[in-house]
Amino acid sequence: MSSESSPRKAAASPSRARRTSRYNGGVPFTVRDFQTADFDTLWRIDQDCFPPGISYSRTELKVYMRRRGSFTLVAADAARAATADPDLGTNKNYSPPLASTDGAAAGFIVAEADGRSHGHIITIDVVAAARRFGVGSLLLRAAENRLRIAECRSVELETAVDNVSALSFYKRHGYSVFKTFPRYYSNGVDALVLNKELI
Ligand SMILES: CC(C)(COP(=O)(O)OP(=O)(O)OC[C@H]1O[C@@H](n2cnc3c(N)ncnc32)[C@H](O)[C@@H]1OP(=O)(O)O)[C@@H](O)C(=O)NCCC(=O)NCCS
Repeated sequence: MSSESSPRKAAASPSRARRTSRYNGGVPFTVRDFQTADFDTLWRIDQDCFPPGISYSRTELKVYMRRRGSFTLVAADAARAATADPDLGTNKNYSPPLASTDGAAAGFIVAEADGRSHGHIITIDVVAAARRFGVGSLLLRAAENRLRIAECRSVELETAVDNVSALSFYKRHGYSVFKTFPRYYSNGVDALVLNKELI
């Protein structure tokens, strides 16, 4: 979902949120705010999630994360928290991915509130080994809640027309396609622009 004008691309709530997904009986993750020490891990996750040319350079990712109104949330391994809290679900089929060893980050979302009631998901990235366990859903819901707090009435995002898993994911979360950007990506692929009313 990358372009210079409108990026590929999702919190003022307690610094550490913890939620249980309705998918798969719960996932062993918490959602928390980005910390500076996360940056390299998140950048590497983005490199793994998108092909060269579509994935962000370090500079691009930093710019998007630092834009006015922008925020980054991280899904982190909550194994210890799960031990302490029997209400937090765990998925026995999940093994923490290698990419999570330095801080247990399994995914992240960058979003922004534009100050005019509109939110924008800049990127959402989940490591391959942690997909389909509800991590993306936790991140997206947390970001949507943060946007609501910022008084955003709607949120939009771009995704490639051939990103079948992302389109299925967003449809599941109530997003609808409302326009197309021809040849939006550097590899010539069109982008679909999707939106959702938040309130
Ligand atoms: C899209 C992405 C963020 C989804 O993350 P995730 O943690 O796997 O998503 P969830 O487990 O919360 O999935 C929720 C629902 O989305 C849909 N979904 C997610 N991945 C899917 C896939 N590969 N195929 C079909 N449906 C899918 C399903 O309805 C799923 O519910 P289910 O597992 O009960 O069937 C993840 O696949 C990813 O990081 N992809 C690479 C980066 C990317 O393309 N980002 C989006 C564009 S910016």
